[in-house]
Amino acid sequence: MQTTTPAPLIAVENVSRYFGQVVAIKDITMSVNAGEVMCLLGDNGAGKSTLIKLLSGVYRPSEGRILVDGTEVRFASPRDALTMGIATVYQDLAMIPLMSIARNFFLGSEPTKWVPPFRRFDVKRADRITREELAKMGIQVRDTSQPVGTLSGGERQSVAIARAVYFGARVLILDEPTAALGVKEAGVVLRYIAQARARGLGVIFITHNVHHAYPIGDRFTLLNRGRSYGTFAKSEVTREEVVSMMAGGEELEALGHELEEMARQDRDNAAALATAGREFTAEARDIERDAEDRTEPTA
Ligand SMILES: Nc1ncnc2c1ncn2[C@@H]1O[C@H](COP(=O)(O)OP(=O)(O)O)[C@@H](O)[C@H]1O
Ligand SMILES: [Mg+2]
Repeated sequence: MQTTTPAPLIAVENVSRYFGQVVAIKDITMSVNAGEVMCLLGDNGAGKSTLIKLLSGVYRPSEGRILVDGTEVRFASPRDALTMGIATVYQDLAMIPLMSIARNFFLGSEPTKWVPPFRRFDVKRADRITREELAKMGIQVRDTSQPVGTLSGGERQSVAIARAVYFGARVLILDEPTAALGVKEAGVVLRYIAQARARGLGVIFITHNVHHAYPIGDRFTLLNRGRSYGTFAKSEVTREEVVSMMAGGEELEALGHELEEMARQDRDNAAALATAGREFTAEARDIERDAEDRTEPTA
């Protein structure tokens, strides 16, 4: 008998993406399973956004394969990915600040009712569903008819997450959802990520902040200049190791040498200054003595 572990919800195998001469990502292999948070970590320019744009159907890989539930797919558009339950929440969120929370929740998929001679946006139903769905994620809003613009950045992210979950996302991709947030607000978003995981979604959480990633992540994939250092389970790496890999170990070492060299130069400079200072003081004393000699009162 063959034991079957379920295939990852989504996976990439040896994918690369070129933009002309620019190698944005090279030979990346990564996956996310149901009920886990996969953190995609890397400094600016590491290739994080490019990789998730492959997963969400915005770009097509130059090389390599994308698999959903173990089967190779070719997304022709973001709509294809969405249809397969791959939902991406971008940092700018595509929300309309002056429209209500409920309207934004249903943006593009409004529940309508037949009020002859037109189908109308069903406000009551939208309000109720929005309130219920937000409550399921532990988000309490007093009034879903208030404009989205009155929500804090963290709350807006949370509405976007709740919306993706409601519309059937199985994989939730979050591109730097905590980047623009303060510590407390980031905490709020991290809690919703944990909620999504508890509901069985696979979450790909992109960030360059290890302090946001480490507490919530189950596995970590580290990108550095378009290449992967590999994927590590939390039990395999410490927070410090993640930090060092993100910065690029060699670069940190080089920086260490540079700082040592600067300190040595500082010591040399300090010694030279001290010598100059002593010479200056001695000379000043001589000049003073000469002056005193010249102004010696004559008897
Ligand atoms: N559309 C594009 N055309 C040319 N180069 C790109 C394009 N998108 C990304 N790149 C390059 O690919 C590299 C990775 O970028 P990106 O995926 O945005 O990194 P990250 O999201 O980790 O900051 C960068 O060097 C960037 O300049
Ligand atoms: Mg990016």
